[in-house]
Amino acid sequence: MSASYERHGDVAVITLNNPPVNGLGYDTRKGLTDGIARAEDDAEVRAIVITGAGRAFSGGADIREFGSPKALQEPNLLSVIGRVENSAKPVVAAIHSVCMGGGLELALGCHYRVAAPGTQVALPEVKLGLVPGAGGTQRLPRAIGVETALNMIVSGEPVKSELLAAAPGQKLFDRIIDGELLPAAIAFAREVADVRPLPLVRHLKAEHANPDGYFQFARNTVGAVAKNFPAPAKCVDCVEAAVQKKFDDGMLFEREQFAALMMTPESKALRHAFFAERAASKIPDVPEDTAVRPIAKVAVIGAGTMGGGISMNFLNAGIPVTIIEMKQEALDRGIGVIRKNYEAQVKKGKLKQDKYEQRMALLSTTLSYDDIKDADLVIEAVFEDLGVKEQVFKTLDEVMKPGAILASNTSTLDVNKIAGFTRRPEDVVGMHFFSPANVMKLLEVIRGEKTAKDVLATVMQLAKKIKKTAVVSGVCDGFIGNRMLEQYSRQAGFLLEEGATPEQVDKAAERFGFAMGPFRVGDLAGNDVGWYIRKRRYQEKPHMRYSKTADLLCEMGRFGQKTGAGWYDYKPGKRDPIPSPLVNEMIEKHRAELGLQARRISDDEIVGRLVYALVNEGAKILEEGIAQRASDIDMVYLTGYGFPLFRGGPMCYADTVGLFNVVQAMKRFQKNPHDDAQFWEPAPLLARLAEEGKTFS
Ligand code: NAI
Repeated sequence: MSASYERHGDVAVITLNNPPVNGLGYDTRKGLTDGIARAEDDAEVRAIVITGAGRAFSGGADIREFGSPKALQEPNLLSVIGRVENSAKPVVAAIHSVCMGGGLELALGCHYRVAAPGTQVALPEVKLGLVPGAGGTQRLPRAIGVETALNMIVSGEPVKSELLAAAPGQKLFDRIIDGELLPAAIAFAREVADVRPLPLVRHLKAEHANPDGYFQFARNTVGAVAKNFPAPAKCVDCVEAAVQKKFDDGMLFEREQFAALMMTPESKALRHAFFAERAASKIPDVPEDTAVRPIAKVAVIGAGTMGGGISMNFLNAGIPVTIIEMKQEALDRGIGVIRKNYEAQVKKGKLKQDKYEQRMALLSTTLSYDDIKDADLVIEAVFEDLGVKEQVFKTLDEVMKPGAILASNTSTLDVNKIAGFTRRPEDVVGMHFFSPANVMKLLEVIRGEKTAKDVLATVMQLAKKIKKTAVVSGVCDGFIGNRMLEQYSRQAGFLLEEGATPEQVDKAAERFGFAMGPFRVGDLAGNDVGWYIRKRRYQEKPHMRYSKTADLLCEMGRFGQKTGAGWYDYKPGKRDPIPSPLVNEMIEKHRAELGLQARRISDDEIVGRLVYALVNEGAKILEEGIAQRASDIDMVYLTGYGFPLFRGGPMCYADTVGLFNVVQAMKRFQKNPHDDAQFWEPAPLLARLAEEGKTFS
């Protein structure tokens, strides 16, 4: 049973016990209601205390039950709370550590609440695109006041118990207990054992001096911030219902909103991302208890764009880093950039001066491999050139201590080949960071043919420590993210040739929800980066057609923001893209050379071609085993490529549209005489799933 029952004299103590956070799964709920019944039947019991074992009072619903019928199996959470409210003997919640979601809703159903200071109190449902569904929106405003409650419900963010307890007139906590919680809770239960009638939060009033003005204000604020998500506005509606409706009507209203939100694609996308993130950290053939290698010292090779950002991740986590370069100037420049980044954070008040100094003190630089040979992990971030990488890895093989992990940040090169430059390919792994490496969440972990399991386990664990979302990818050109991006970029180019402007393509992509369209991204990252890659890539794959417009742009010297001009013009020092007549002229000229007539292309077609190009390549990557699961691909796109979160990633989005519909659209694109018919041949996995009416998930 996931809830235990004990008697302490005349007080019964029910302890939720469902590690790690006492999620309110079926067994725990059943244990709880059985405990209440037992305490009621026991003539010697005068009061009941509910508390949680281990690290939480309760973190809320049991995520393992999420979306399954078990979550609704009686007693469901609403019935449990009803049972507690109706207990003939007073029920005291003894709250500590974590009290969130359903856990807080349960506590609000108790007659009294005492809490340890420092408890994280929250209703985080909005983060999954939902409103609290077991009375949270009706009881919390009654207990803590309308404004505080709405702030908590709309943000989902935790607030410390002692802060809430300090709010004037609050009825959430009857007492904050500084010493040992349980004995004090039991003593409190004895104090109130004979008080009748039993106090209930539902009998309180949720009031506001100027409800119309306030809720109007709240709606405006929420609407501006949460434009693609419906749940925050529903949180406002529910709290307003707590003010305006009778308690039971408010409960009904909340229930309806909860059920309706559950069906929205936005909530499905958020729940998908929630589980995808957890799934991504698991590697089926690498057991969770695999012993990891200790990582106390890190070395980074190359102090360029990536090397500096990569180093900052480790400094931020308190791990010392040594950067090695070929020339002192390169080191000085690299360190200068790191300093500037930190100083900007200090200026904005995001980093304290002493923290900044502590971090810089962990950083050292060298021109000699002798100074890095003891590092536990070395990450190579030198030029993207196999010859240069060969030199570096041969040297590393010579100098590094046995057992050191040798990682490459290559974005496109063959990690197996790189591993082959050493006599210890089992220690070699790809750690593909994204630019800017100190900001972007994604880390693609490239598993080579020979990469050892404990190396993978170590890197996955380290990723958590430096707050990255790690996704494992097999070896192929571009790995998961950039391999898919290649097809997306090819489509973006074809769209220009057929009649779209860069601005039209970007606007369509941004309306779909992308943080930036493909051409703005090019200007930001530097169009020369792709140019360089295409030179190699399409030499290796001469049969692969792509639009030359991007090459022509680079031949004009328009590398993007860094040269003041790219797909767009830029005013000096500004980042606002201004459509460029010169670029449009170049595109038109190229179009004429291809013998093409410009046609009007709808935004729907633009988005379809960009996104389904990702989806089709994603299906191939999945089938080839480059990605372990479809949701990993979604994580890559959500955390590394600005794919809109409310759409859950490309594969989740395709599932939402329906794979049959995706394939139909691809067949329409196939009929376009200019587009590449081969391009739109559905990947076998996609075709099969569409035919069987299945989804990627
Ligand atoms: P970068 O050109 O900014 O920096 C490379 C640095 O490595 C230079 O400072 C250079 O002096 C140094 N270097 C070259 N050979 C060296 C050697 N033998 N020993 C020591 N230092 C050496 O290049 P960037 O952009 O930082 O790229 C580095 C790697 O990261 C490449 O493999 C690239 O594909 C990859 N990458 C780049 C991304 C980006 O957006 N720039 C994103 C993800 C990966």
